[in-house]
Amino acid sequence: MIRIDSVTKRYPDGTVAVDRLSLEIPDRSITVLVGPSGCGKTTTLRMINRMVEPSEGTITIDGADISRQPVNSLRRSMGYVIQNAGLFQHRTIVDNIATVPRLLGWSKDRARARARELMERVGLDASLAKRYPYQLSGGQQQRVGVARALAADPPVLLMDEPFSAVDPIVRKGLQEELLRIQDELGKTIVFVTHDIDEAIRLGTMVAVLRTGGRLAQYAPPAELLSSPADSFVEDFLGTDRGIRRLSFFTSETLELKKTPIVAVDSTAEQIASRTDPDTPYLLVTGLDGRPLGWSEPEDLVAGEIETERLLPYGRPFVHGKDSLRAALDAAVLSPTGWAVAVDGDGQVIGAVSQQTIGEAIRSAHAEGRDDAKVAG
Ligand SMILES: Nc1ncnc2c1ncn2[C@@H]1O[C@H](COP(=O)(O)OP(=O)(O)O)[C@@H](O)[C@H]1O
Ligand SMILES: [Mg+2]
Repeated sequence: MIRIDSVTKRYPDGTVAVDRLSLEIPDRSITVLVGPSGCGKTTTLRMINRMVEPSEGTITIDGADISRQPVNSLRRSMGYVIQNAGLFQHRTIVDNIATVPRLLGWSKDRARARARELMERVGLDASLAKRYPYQLSGGQQQRVGVARALAADPPVLLMDEPFSAVDPIVRKGLQEELLRIQDELGKTIVFVTHDIDEAIRLGTMVAVLRTGGRLAQYAPPAELLSSPADSFVEDFLGTDRGIRRLSFFTSETLELKKTPIVAVDSTAEQIASRTDPDTPYLLVTGLDGRPLGWSEPEDLVAGEIETERLLPYGRPFVHGKDSLRAALDAAVLSPTGWAVAVDGDGQVIGAVSQQTIGEAIRSAHAEGRDDAKVAG
């Protein structure tokens, strides 16, 4: 565990970049430092690998004071990723990634084999190995930066705004990749960003810093959203806190109704048997089990269901995998007010009304069942 204990950094010109900061950074999870520009995030990160030395306070790793460790071995245990990747422009991708293993004395072949393995791990096609950085997109370069930091398999990764320079769609892909890598490799990651949504998406724990390098709040993201410590944190979080917090509740608890579902080849009796006063609409599914659209029962004629006349079904949610936020969104987007639930293969397994989702939200809040992070 990395432990920052009452650390202050005063630069020679008198700027206090970090002010008596204390944080316990848990192993094998992602801890995010977030805050406005100039609040001391980079300074804090750089004190962890001693690119910057604290003016006061101590940083320990597993109880050992890092100021007493040789800088080289400390840095070898920490991969470092920065914005725009910071790649060596005159080296190929594979040799960029092989940099640290080569410095550690690995043979060229072994280091390159390791580099190729890492390219696959970070989602880079092997065909890019012999290119130079300028021949890659920003997102691909950022993946190379992550691969290079992982090359010597350090237990700790320090990442300073690594995805801030890429566009939102590419950034989302990189974030997903990082969560997957973290799941597979279990690194201890300290991640700096000024983007609160990125912090909420990636962090197991999130430290919100304010200007002057003071800690405003340190909490899991769902707790930040439900209970911001003060108006600074609340303003920094922005609007829609309640809706955003629903991302942390699973849709698994939603009770699905199967009655309002009819297959496109249903008989008149089957349609009649599905019609009930609580569900004024029926969802028609294709022969492959996927949704086609909603209809009022009286408009459905057995054997003559016209799929192009059905009401759109919106965007279904994956039951148990997606969050209550995704389920609510599906219901709000549906013209009938009912959300369509599908399994992992996209086949309909039920439908759920806005009212039922509302009840699930209330009981989730009541139970504070917000620790499991779910997708969507
Ligand atoms: N080498 C330096 N000398 C003097 N002041 C610095 C130096 N590096 C950073 N600062 C100042 O320290 C504060 C925190 O900077 P930094 O850690 O880079 O913030 P952030 O990464 O959150 O944007 C800022 O006011 C910045 O201007
Ligand atoms: Mg910075």
